[in-house]
Amino acid sequence: MKKFVLLTATVCFVLMMSAFALRAGAPLPKANPNALWQYITKTNPYKNWKPWPDHKGIQPGRAPHGPFHRVFVNDIALSSTNPPVKYGSIIVKENYNKKKQLKIITVMYKVKGYNPKDGDWFWAKYNLQGKAKPYGKPKGCIGCHGTRAKNDFIVLHEFK
Ligand code: HEC
Repeated sequence: MKKFVLLTATVCFVLMMSAFALRAGAPLPKANPNALWQYITKTNPYKNWKPWPDHKGIQPGRAPHGPFHRVFVNDIALSSTNPPVKYGSIIVKENYNKKKQLKIITVMYKVKGYNPKDGDWFWAKYNLQGKAKPYGKPKGCIGCHGTRAKNDFIVLHEFK
């Protein structure tokens, strides 16, 4: 009986782990706001991702993004040791108000050939229902983050 329980537990564990690995390894989405939202909330939920090692947890932020934020990066971004980061990198930033209530989700997604002159980033700003505005190649996002072009347009992480 004990053996049976142990075996069942092991099988369940292996199945769970492979389901997790499959989701993380699912094909990356198109550079499209709905496909990207689906990917980061359902296919490979960003809440399971890690922070940059030099920017963990809820941190104070600046305009235009709001008083507090928390950043999540996918494994592809995390394994990038130098700028530019690898294609397929996704950075999700949760933006909170003064009371630390989640308000807006901003995303950068590195897509090969999408916008070579500005770092090939797909940009999106979502409300909590997943509606994006603006998205794509907004001049605002690119203009401001462009001051960090040498760091692949990324503000909150220094590559060492
Ligand atoms: C006026 C400057 C400015 C504009 C415009 C701007 N950002 Fe940012 N962004 C910042 C700063 C500063 C940070 C650092 C975090 C903070 O202070 O909130 C940041 C951080 C981020 C991050 C976390 C990754 C990183 O670079 O560290 C994302 C994702 C992001 N912004 C997306 C966007 C999107 C999408 C837009 C356009 C809708 C946008 N940003 C427009 C200044 C800007």
